[in-house]
Amino acid sequence: MNRRQFCASSLAVAGRTLLGGDTHGARAHQVPGAVPATEIHEARFPEGFLWGTATAAYQVEGAWKEEGKGESIWDRFTHTVGKVKGGTTGDVACDQYHLYPQDLTLAQRLHQKSYRFSISWPRIQPSGTGPPNMKGLDHYSRLVDATLKAGIRPFCTIYHWDLPQALEDRGGWPNRDLAGYYADYAGILAKHLGDRITVWAPFNMPWSFTYMGYGVGAFPPGRANYADFLKAAHTVALAQSQALRSIKAASSKATVGSAYGMCPAYPKADSEADRAAAARYHAMNNVFFLEAAMHGRYPNAFVGEPPYEVMGFKSGDEKILEAPLDWIGFHYYTRRIVSDAREARTFGGGSFGGTEIEADSAGGRDPYTRFRAVMPTEGPLTESGLEVWPRGIYDLVTQISREYNHPILEITESGCGYLDAPYDKANGGVPDARRIEFFRQELAELARAIADGARVRAFHAWSLLDNFEWANGHSERYGLIYVDYRDQKRTIKDSGLWYGRISASSRLEA
Ligand code: FCB
Repeated sequence: MNRRQFCASSLAVAGRTLLGGDTHGARAHQVPGAVPATEIHEARFPEGFLWGTATAAYQVEGAWKEEGKGESIWDRFTHTVGKVKGGTTGDVACDQYHLYPQDLTLAQRLHQKSYRFSISWPRIQPSGTGPPNMKGLDHYSRLVDATLKAGIRPFCTIYHWDLPQALEDRGGWPNRDLAGYYADYAGILAKHLGDRITVWAPFNMPWSFTYMGYGVGAFPPGRANYADFLKAAHTVALAQSQALRSIKAASSKATVGSAYGMCPAYPKADSEADRAAAARYHAMNNVFFLEAAMHGRYPNAFVGEPPYEVMGFKSGDEKILEAPLDWIGFHYYTRRIVSDAREARTFGGGSFGGTEIEADSAGGRDPYTRFRAVMPTEGPLTESGLEVWPRGIYDLVTQISREYNHPILEITESGCGYLDAPYDKANGGVPDARRIEFFRQELAELARAIADGARVRAFHAWSLLDNFEWANGHSERYGLIYVDYRDQKRTIKDSGLWYGRISASSRLEA
C-alpha cells in the first residue's frame, strides 16, 4: 500500500470508527500488522504504571537567546538557509520557556504522572564549560517545582541534541575532552536539581545524533565522515558513564537510566548471513551504548574486531565505560528489515528522511558494520512516513528484557506524526482518530509484553504537544495537543483526551 492509498483507507477506517460501525476485528483483516480486538480488551497495566509524555528543550522552549543562553548547534543549523524544511527555526517553537505553567496544567488535566523534558546545556553553561548561569538553572528549578505541584514526576534528559556551539568549535563530540565537560555539566544539574529530580537519562538517542551529525551530516554539525562518527560515539559512551558517576556523587537520590532510540531488527531472509547482519544492527543501533554502560565493552557490531584505533579507544577505557544503569529507557517508533552487505562494493551513508529513516544506500552503509537496514512498508505509514507496526514494541521489550536479565524498563518515547488540525478554531476539537488507533494497538502489545513478564513501569507518548520537528521543521505534528504557531493557542486533540482517559483508568477501552 502506498502512502496515498493508506491515507484513503485509514480515513475510511477513521470514519467508520467515529460512526461506531466497525470492529477492531474487521480492521484486523484489513490492515497488515493490526492487533486483534480481543487483545485490546484483555490489555492490563500494573498498578502505579506511570503514564507520561515527552518533549525536548530545543523542540518546545523557544527563547533561544534569553536570560544568558548561549548559541547551540541547533540554533546555528536552523539559522543556516536550506537546512530545515520550510525555513522554520526553534527560535520560538511552542514558547514553552514562558508557557510551561499552562502546559503542565494541561498535562495534569490529562492525568499525566510523568513528564520527560530535557535541559538545554547552553542555558546552563553558555559556552559549554565553566560556572553555571544561575538564570538558566532557576528556570529549570521553577519548571521542576511546577511539575511536582501538578502531581507529575519530573524525568530529566540531560542532553537532547543541543550542544553548545562553542564546544562544536572545539571539535564537537569526536573530541574526547567533551566527555569530561559533559560530566561536569551533568554534575551541576544534579547538584542544583537533584533534591527534586530522581530520574535522569544522560543522552537522548546517542546513536542517532552521533551518526546523523557526524556520520552522514543530516543533523548539525553536518559532517559526513564515518571515522568521526565512531570517535563521537566513543566520547559519548565515555561521557554517559562519567556523568552517571558525577550525578550520583552530587545527589544521593539519583537514579540513572537511558533514553535510547531502538528499532527491532528482523533478518530479511532466513539465512545465517542475514541473521548475523540483523544482530549487528541490534548491536550498533540499539544496544551499543547500553552494553558499554552495563558491561564496559562494545557489542559485536562490526565485521571482525571493533575498529578501536579509529574510535580513539585507549587502554583502560573499558573501566571508565562500565557504569551499570539503574533502569533502561528506550523509544519505539518502527522496525527495520536487515540484510547482509559484506559483498557490497560501494559504501555510503544514503539519504535521510525524518529523524530516523535510513534510506537505502547503494550497498552497505559503511566498511565496518556492513549491513543494509530498511524500514518496511507492509503496515500502513504515518503521515511522517514511518511504518505502523505495533508488534515491534512487544518484540523489542521482550528482547531487551531477556538480554539484560529483566531490568526495570521505561518507554521513553513513542508516537506518530499526523497533521490533523482543528475544524473550527474557536470551538473545534481535533479529530485525530489515526493517532488514537496507533496508541491503542501499540499499548495492547506493550501490555502483552508486561503480561509475559517484562518489568515496564512507564510509557511516554511523544509528544505532549506539537513541536519543532528538527530538520522537518513544522511539517510534522506528533502532539497530543495541537499548537497553532501563529498565536501559541493549544487545543487538546481527541487523542489527548483519549490518552487522558487511559492514563486515569489504565484500560485501553476508555
Ligand atoms: C525522536 C526524537 C524526538 C522526536 C521524535 C519524533 O527520534 O527523540 O526528539 O523528534 O523522534
